[in-house]
Amino acid sequence: MTQITLALTKGRILKEVLPLLETSGIRPSQDIAGSRKLVFQTNIENFRLLILRGVDVPTYVQFGAADMGIAGKDILLEDAGGGYYESLDLDMARCRLMTASSKDTGIGEGRIIVATKYINVARKYYAQKGRQAEFIKLYGAMELAPVLGLADEIVDIVDTGNTLKAHGLVTKELIANVSARLIVNKTAMKTKFEVIQAIIDRLRGAL
Ligand code: PRP
Repeated sequence: MTQITLALTKGRILKEVLPLLETSGIRPSQDIAGSRKLVFQTNIENFRLLILRGVDVPTYVQFGAADMGIAGKDILLEDAGGGYYESLDLDMARCRLMTASSKDTGIGEGRIIVATKYINVARKYYAQKGRQAEFIKLYGAMELAPVLGLADEIVDIVDTGNTLKAHGLVTKELIANVSARLIVNKTAMKTKFEVIQAIIDRLRGAL
């Protein structure tokens, strides 16, 4: 029988996706939240789940190590790999990808420094706007960069805005609305079409 692997994003996406799986009738063989394991069989034969960092989900799916994945649109916009279809907007874990800066920063004319983990997205966005910028890659705590003078602006996801507020930062421009998406490896979509389509239908039905 065909083995299907679905890669999930740990953290806040996982929290919202677990109830969706439950409603879809997909039950992990063990409690995911209370375990250190990264692979889980499910009640559906030959259907297993992986728990990954979001940034790794498109990579696993691109190379077919996972047939399907659930990741934030922010991660997909940043990913340069391709090799997968974006099959479903799960309309959950919603947030916004935005530029932000300190409250008191005026709109500078010259070259600005932008700190972000979304280097590809940021590069494209500032180029589109015709704004001269240099980019510094960070892996987290982007909000500190303008506070400590490392950068003039950041590009990051904003949900409640509390993290920005706590650091005296304000949002500036919306780059993209973000939500969790289901992606499917292009080859698997052909070779395992029926089984994958059945899972997409289950998830769609539960939304
Ligand atoms: C994200 C983001 C901000 C925060 C925004 O980090 O990088 O720090 O959430 O949320 P808020 O607007 O509700 O304050 P996350 O907690 O996902 O951790 P990460 O840095 O590991 O992505």
